[in-house]
Amino acid sequence: MGSNGGGEFLSVVVPTYNERENLNELLRRIDLVLRTEGIKYEVVIVDDNSPDGTADYAEKLSSKYPVRVIRRPGKLGLSSAVLDGVKESKGGIIAVMDADLQHPPETLLRMLKELLNKDCDLVIASRYIKGGSVESWSLLRRAISKGAILIARILLPKVRSIKDPMSGYFMFRREVVEANMKYMNPKGFKILLEVIVKGRASKVCEVPYTFGIRYRGRSKLSSKEVLNYIVHVLNLAPDYIRFAVVGAAGTVVNLTVLALLRYLIGVPHSYASAIAIEASVVNNFILNDVWTFKSHRRGGVAKRFLKFHVSSALGLLTQWVVSFSMYYSVLSQSIIAQLVGIVAGFLVNYLLSKRFVWRS
Ligand code: GDD
Ligand code: MN
Repeated sequence: MGSNGGGEFLSVVVPTYNERENLNELLRRIDLVLRTEGIKYEVVIVDDNSPDGTADYAEKLSSKYPVRVIRRPGKLGLSSAVLDGVKESKGGIIAVMDADLQHPPETLLRMLKELLNKDCDLVIASRYIKGGSVESWSLLRRAISKGAILIARILLPKVRSIKDPMSGYFMFRREVVEANMKYMNPKGFKILLEVIVKGRASKVCEVPYTFGIRYRGRSKLSSKEVLNYIVHVLNLAPDYIRFAVVGAAGTVVNLTVLALLRYLIGVPHSYASAIAIEASVVNNFILNDVWTFKSHRRGGVAKRFLKFHVSSALGLLTQWVVSFSMYYSVLSQSIIAQLVGIVAGFLVNYLLSKRFVWRS
């Protein structure tokens, strides 16, 4: 690594589940790249009691390479494996990579140079900058990957400038995660998002690489992980985004309850409208209380429930009045009248907040 890299110790954290057949090749190539450059390093394998004996084999290879093995009792997930590996590692610089050689070990060197020479705290190996690519993905998996990135970039301000926030291949200084590791969510596949949003990297860099073909074995990324993903991103997002998602859900509840009351039971519009509005308020309160503002709950739940009504009273009244007058004067279409009411109520809430609460 020449003049300025020699002193830094690098820990390479590799989560594994049934990767025995990949270990020898992985360690051989990591060693070839790093030892040739005189970089001191360790590989920390975090294995979830793989049935194929990955951990035992890794232990065996430790006579040949600087490997340590962390054994966990069962399949506890990729992100938590990475966090455990980071906790146990010794290096001032930490890399995270997959075991299956889809992450070419040769890129480690480029990442380390970038980190040291360009003063980056976090270097991401990126498929989506110039020079990067994906070798063999179906159109569907490509679309899912791009879609997931788009969602993250829209919802997470800190991710907006990053081209491949879904990468599983990255390197960072220990200080980036040290203070906030306890707040990181160990669920799912997307540990890099946690590091970007909750870590303390002041400069994030990306270097290109080609996401290769799996050397041996098969992928553990299931459709369950894809579903988890949306919830994960929303949990990382600012609270106003969760608030808006809850509001959208409330609109669905509002209109559904209205439709049921009107067309199933035959309740008159004026009553049905009021009940539907209250149903959406209850829905929104519960979701905001257990999710959006979960960590900001003070005092009793009844008091919060009341306050929520007070703070939205004028908007709710507007909803009902507009829905009522639309229905009985202009058109006798319950659902449309209610929807117009909802939009009007939203506008009133918005204008009031802008004029009186946050007046410039
Ligand atoms: N310890 C442990 N526990 N390791 C796991 C687990 C687990 O529950 N699940 C997966 N791994 C390990 C695998 O053994 C492999 O070394 C690495 O995590 C990545 O798993 P793959 O199954 O190869 O994932 P992939 O190739 O589909 O996805 C990769 O590319 C994505 C890019 O779209 C991963 O790098 C993802 O993190 C990345 O987002
Ligand atoms: Mn893989």
